[in-house]
Parts: sequence; C-alpha cells; structure tokens
Amino acid sequence: MRRLALLLVLLIAVLPALAQDRRTDEHSYAQPDKVRISDLGLDLAINFDKRQLAGSATLTLAWADPAQRDLVLDTRDLAISAVEARSGKRKFRAVPFVLAERDERFGSKLTITLPRQYDQVRITYATSPQASGLQWLSPAMTAGGKTPFMFSQSQAIHARSWVPLQDTPSVRFTYSARIKTPADVMALMSADNDPAAPRDGDYSFTMPQAIPSYLMAIAAGDLVFKPISARAGVWAEPRTVDRAVKEFQDTEKMIQVTEQLYGDYRWGRYDLLILPPSFPFGGMENPRLSFITPTVIVGDGSLVSLIAHELAHSWSGNLVTNASWKDMWLNEGFTSYVENRIVEALYGKERADMEFVNSRNGLAAELADLPEAQQVLVLPARGGSDPEDALSAVAYDKGAWFLQFLEQRFGREAFDPFLRSWFDTHAFQSVDSDQFVAFLRTHLMAAQPGVVTDAELAVWLTQPGIPAYAPKTTSPRFDAVDAARESWTKRRVAARDLKTAKWTTQEWVYFLEGLPSKLPADRLVELDQAFRFTGTPNGELAMRWYPLCVRSEYFEARPAMSLFLRKIGRRKLIMPTYEALSQTDEGLAYAEQIFAMSRPGYHPITSGSVQALLEKAKAAAAVPAK
Ligand code: BES
Ligand code: ZN
Repeated sequence: MRRLALLLVLLIAVLPALAQDRRTDEHSYAQPDKVRISDLGLDLAINFDKRQLAGSATLTLAWADPAQRDLVLDTRDLAISAVEARSGKRKFRAVPFVLAERDERFGSKLTITLPRQYDQVRITYATSPQASGLQWLSPAMTAGGKTPFMFSQSQAIHARSWVPLQDTPSVRFTYSARIKTPADVMALMSADNDPAAPRDGDYSFTMPQAIPSYLMAIAAGDLVFKPISARAGVWAEPRTVDRAVKEFQDTEKMIQVTEQLYGDYRWGRYDLLILPPSFPFGGMENPRLSFITPTVIVGDGSLVSLIAHELAHSWSGNLVTNASWKDMWLNEGFTSYVENRIVEALYGKERADMEFVNSRNGLAAELADLPEAQQVLVLPARGGSDPEDALSAVAYDKGAWFLQFLEQRFGREAFDPFLRSWFDTHAFQSVDSDQFVAFLRTHLMAAQPGVVTDAELAVWLTQPGIPAYAPKTTSPRFDAVDAARESWTKRRVAARDLKTAKWTTQEWVYFLEGLPSKLPADRLVELDQAFRFTGTPNGELAMRWYPLCVRSEYFEARPAMSLFLRKIGRRKLIMPTYEALSQTDEGLAYAEQIFAMSRPGYHPITSGSVQALLEKAKAAAAVPAK
C-alpha cells in the first residue's frame, strides 16, 4: 500500500513537470517551436543505374518565433548543391547554408541562414546509393526479374536520408510530388495513387492531409493494380497480385468494422503495396498505401492480422501520432489493441484470443532479457540513442494489454466511445502520454470513479513488468495443442497421429514455441516427416523451426534454412535463426558465410541488425570464458 501511495505521489508530481520534455524529440535537430514546415513540394527523378533520387524539395514555412532566422533541418548522406529562398511568387535567391559533420545515428544537421523569415526554401540535392531509408533492387532480385525496384522505409528516422526535412513526428505537413522514372516503371507514394494512372514515367501525387515525416514513402517498379473494393486494392508485381488479392480479400470488411468502432476512415483510398521479400518489416502504415511483406501471403489468410494492424494505424498513429518516439506505445500499443478488435469482429473471439496469447508469450520472452528501464510504457528521454534500439514488444503488447485492461474495467459500452473520441479530438495532431492520461482522467475515470485507481494507472505506465491484475486471456484451442504436444513429447503418440488437421498458423506457432529448446535429431526427423516444417513457405513457422534445428544440431535442415535466410529479408523472421547459429563457433562461421552471400539482397536496416548481432557474437567468442 505504501509503495502504491508513493507511486501515486510520483505520478502526480513528476508527469506534469516532464510535460515540456515529453514533446521534445531528441532524435531530430529541428527546432519546431521556432519554425515548422507546413508543406513539402518534391520534384525528383529516380535513377536506378546510379541508385539515386535527384531533384529538389521546396519547403513552405510557418514561423512561430519572430526573432528566428535560421532554419535547421535533418539530413543524412544527402549531396546538397543549392539552397534558395523566396517569399510569395518572387524569384528564388541563393541563401547560405552549413552542413554539419555526420553523426552516426542522426546524420548531418543542415543550418540554413535566412536574412529574413522567407515563406519558402528550395533545396536541390541527390541521395546516396547507401541511403539508410531506401533499398535498390536489381531486376534479378524481383519476382518478375525484368524491371528494377526501389522503395523507402522512413520510420523511424530515415526520411532524412531521402528528403531534407524536420524529421520528427511532432511536425506535420502536406505534400505534393512530381516523380520521374524510366518509362516502363510505375511509381507510387503515400498519397493519392490513381489506379488508372498511365504508366509513362512521369507521375504526380498530392497528400492533402498533414502527415509526419516518417510517413513519407515512395516505391517504384513493375507494379500493377487489382481492386478489392471500390476504395481498396493491391499494387504488386504481376506475378504476385492475384495471390495477394485473394489473401487480402477481407480488407474492405476490415475498413468497415474499424469505421463502426472508431469513426470514418479519413484518408480516401486504402491500398496495399506488396514488396519484394527483402522488405525489412512485416508492414508499414504509409498513409493510403500500406507497405506489406509478401511473407504473409501463405494461402489461407491466417496472417491477415498484419493488414488489420497496418489499417488500424490509419486511426492510431497516422491520425493521432506520438509526438516523440518515447511515446511510441500511443502508436503501436493502440494499434495492436485495435488490430485485435478487428480480428475479433471479423474472425471471432477464439482467433483473437489465440493471437493475444501468442503475442503475450512473445512479450514475456522479451521481458525476461530486457533491462527494467525499457519495460515501461512511458519511456524517459534517451538522448543520443537510436530510437530503433527502444523498439520492443513493450510498446506493442504491453500497450495493447493496458488498453484491454481499461476496456474490461470500464466496459466496452464506455471504452469504445472513449477511444473513438480520443481519435476524433486529436485527429491530425501529435500527442504525448500526458495528454492521454489527462483525457483518460476527464472522460473515463471521472465518469466512473473508483473503477481504476491512480496507483494502478501509475503502475501500468511507469513500472516495469506486467501488473498482477492484468486481464488473463486463455484459449481452449491452445489447451488442446498443449495436450497434443505433451502426448508427443512423452512418446505416447506418434507425430503423424496427432489430430492437427484443423490447426491454423496460430496453433502451429503455439505448438513450436512450447517444444523443449533442444530435441534429439531423430525426434525432429519425426516431426519433419509428419509436418514438413523444413522448407515451409510460412515464415512464422520457419522462424521458430530453424532455431530449434540449430540448437538440436539437426544438420539436414541446413540447405532449406540457408535458402530461407538468403531469400527473406524481413528482420523479425530471420534474426532468431542468426541468433541461434551465433551461439557456437561452427554456427557463427556458417552464419557469417550465409550473411556474406545474402547481404547484397538485404535492406540496409536488416544488414545493420545482422551485422551487429554477428559482431557481438564474435567479440564474445574472442574473450576466453572465465
Ligand atoms: N510501424 C510499424 C513498423 C515500424 C516500427 C518500422 C518502428 C520502423 C520502426 C508497423 O506498423 C509494424 O508494427 N509492423 C509489424 C507488424 C505488426 C503486425 C506487429 C512488423 O513489421 O513486424
Ligand atoms: Zn505498427
């Protein structure tokens, strides 16, 4: 009780004091309290031979501080050839600028010195072939094999590697773009893509809703469109598009159930862009055009919660945005919660519960190795660190769990309209945790006093781990999987006689996760003969099966495993296998070999993660054990 009282005092005393801090973004050089970008105009040519975007960015400025003259922008590895400024429709004139030395994590601060508060600044520049936010694929790395491909991944702080801007989620701006490509290449952006646009190498886009920089996106390649409904459809390479339309046929229904819960979809069209397998994430919620990994196209629709997730960001994240990455749970936690509500509405509670249990098991595994300071939802400022280092299941799954706790305590009749009004009241704004807490107090806690205490709230937001009173989710279908697994591990039933015919991906994931961390090779052979895990096209199974094979020294799986690691660049799917390999000297040497072969096809984000892992393992191996 004393501890809780202390926490309460802490929450009341400390949160408002930090209010100023919470909105400040330590990951950007920009000074949004002095001047803000309100609109961006891009004029860029895509050059596949040089692996370069080149052209200009015109920034329209809204000045907030009358004494301010400098405009400070974020850039990384940009070659800047000119900076000009103007007011009204007058001629652009050259203005002085200084590009600071490159910081490894944050890039180069660009300071433009203006004689007065001009309306617009135009920067002429070109990107580097190594731009951290772009991947360039040769034709051989695409499904069709004939046309090159490129795409961006701006979140969290990679937009600055292809556009000079204020690279912070606390600043929102509208944009328009003119993009030139070779004539046979289609270009798309996180904007008003026209399904009927003629493919002629010259494309124009507008994004009339104000968005933060991390939602700037571009892709170009041999892309064709097929509709799912009047406002939703799929862009993909010709070979992939039909499979994708079939897999994601429920997308329109997903939009409708989310609208019923949280109000209108406000972005016009909602299309999916299917990327090559090297896409480093599962999905990215680029507005109007979610970027999607092809690894969720497994044929039975069992992984479409990814679409529910990226769609949910159209409310949580894109409409109401975390002002800084410290409050990422406001984006990802809310989205993971909404994702599960969509899955429940469309596929039933049984499936939604299985998905919650699996993600919470993942969270528990991560918490076991995570420093306590990183286990809290409301993260303190970590100046100087890369925001991606703070990326963990905490923001996603603990965040969603907290919202489920609120939902259960207050009841859906109260909680659903509350969440809807959170989105409505803060639409097109960037927000912080303090604002959410204040809104929660006024609109939910005050209306139903005593249902959730201040102390409980403080524990969820500022304490490590999961509170003992967090709601428990159980799954009878998983109980059956437990029983089946046990009868196999205790050798009462042979693998092929297990009743698995109706199992979905969720049950297989749960089955694999519950196996011992090592098994005798002959037992893996038995599983493989019954279920054909080795070589599975389902990455969710592969990412759990291959590490088990590595730990169990089941070498027969290696050819298929190495193919998987070479072909797939989705970080989440391949890291566990690299991790397992790096535990032994022989495995580490093998992993280095595979990485050397795979690297040309990996995205810079994935290469960076694999390299860091292998270097750490090598350093540890070099130190003799005490
Ligand atoms: N916005 C994220 C991806 C992201 C987060 C990229 C942080 C860079 C930095 C996206 O919405 C996401 O969460 N994707 C998940 C899938 C989801 C179902 C958990 C992924 O890619 O695995
Ligand atoms: Zn997300």
